Amino acid sequence: MDHFRIVGPCRLVGRIRISGAKNAALPAMAAVLLTEDEVQLQNMPAVWDVETMGRILDIIGYDVAREGDVARFRQRRVQDLCAPYDLVRTMRASILCLGPLVSRFGYAKVSLPGGCAIGARPVNLHLAGLERMGAEIEVEHGYIIARCRRLCGADYTFEKVTVTGTENLMMAAALADGRTTLHNSAVEPEVTDLGEMLRCMGARIEGLGTRQLVIDGVKSLHGCCHPIIPDRITTGTYLVAGAITRGELVIENCRPSHLQAVLDILAAAGVRMEVMEDRITLTGNGPLRPVTFTTSPYPGFPTDMQAQLMSLMTQADGTSCIRESIFENRFLHAMELDRMGAKIRIDGNTALVYGPRPLQGATVTASDLRASASLVLAALAAKGETIVRRIYHLDRGYERMEEKLNALGATIERIRA
Ligand code: EPZ
Repeated sequence: MDHFRIVGPCRLVGRIRISGAKNAALPAMAAVLLTEDEVQLQNMPAVWDVETMGRILDIIGYDVAREGDVARFRQRRVQDLCAPYDLVRTMRASILCLGPLVSRFGYAKVSLPGGCAIGARPVNLHLAGLERMGAEIEVEHGYIIARCRRLCGADYTFEKVTVTGTENLMMAAALADGRTTLHNSAVEPEVTDLGEMLRCMGARIEGLGTRQLVIDGVKSLHGCCHPIIPDRITTGTYLVAGAITRGELVIENCRPSHLQAVLDILAAAGVRMEVMEDRITLTGNGPLRPVTFTTSPYPGFPTDMQAQLMSLMTQADGTSCIRESIFENRFLHAMELDRMGAKIRIDGNTALVYGPRPLQGATVTASDLRASASLVLAALAAKGETIVRRIYHLDRGYERMEEKLNALGATIERIRA
């Protein structure tokens, strides 16, 4: 398993261009299953999860061609309506194949994703919605099997806001017979981006960006060419990289309006930023102030930025309070940061981060995608050598991070093991 060897401290200076959003690319790739026509996706990120989803589409019967950041998908011969365990276990978002497959082909077999480091991650709300639309759902030998001659439009309220649950049912409803109304839907930009793509394919969807989606099913959908939105979490991650190293960064090709809650917290912490329509200029040389925030569904503070802010707050002049309200076990990075000299006390879903604490290089282990990013950020500011183990977590969602950071003044070596 590869690991990073990082020598700090460093100061990041320069420009960085944000790639397409992983969490928009994955549902967009699942939507390819809704049509036999060619689909083109632009601004696609080069990350492992996208590769994995491509392999699942290939198994199902789609040709996937990649030229730079453009991916082309075309139905070859659908032979196996199945997303197999050995791929799903590495990428939970494979569950997004369920809705499109059962809606278009009347059958789907998708491995139960199982839990992950940050929580149990059930998919009960996805399944309840499909059952409400008439699907017969069985779970056999670790696989979800969904059957339905044709889904019927339904009225469905999500008990909890779920991003991929909303995406799954929106895709399923696009080809269902009649009207589906989804209440308490997620409104993350990635959900809206998927809805825009589906509309471009001929779907009839109203209410995008609101918690009530109304979808009138159609008989078939045609192909499209769709640009993936910039990655708001990668944008936030690199903003923290600039702030924690007291650097000067210009973040280009981003969508600041998609991470306003993050910008508000960074500004409250004393990070100076000039925000334009598609770029952010950060000057991270002022004192850092402690902050208090709770993660919540969009437009609230994103849970996917919690670990990165925790790293930054180890450098603030005072005690920060971070509450994680989305996942039940998303503080695994705290113990690793403590090994680097941080002082973080966990009490249930609340973390108190005492600062400022001088960080020292150490050997640390990544547990999930965003925790791995937080450890890299801390290593950039730490004095000495840090080894970050299991960076395959990082490769799932960040495009060539060591190359981009080294170009800005970091000293990161990828050691293949
Ligand atoms: C999406 O995961 C993202 N992944 C996650 O990003 C992100 O952390 C999460 O949304 C929250 O914003 C993708 O978009 C591919 P949820 P998702 O369903 O859809 C509970 C990353 O780092 N729930 O919104 O799986 C669930 O347990 C990843 O890029 C149910 O109880 O998350 C959680 O507590 C990590 N039953 C809450 O809802 C269900 O059927 C929100 O989960 C579904 C969800």
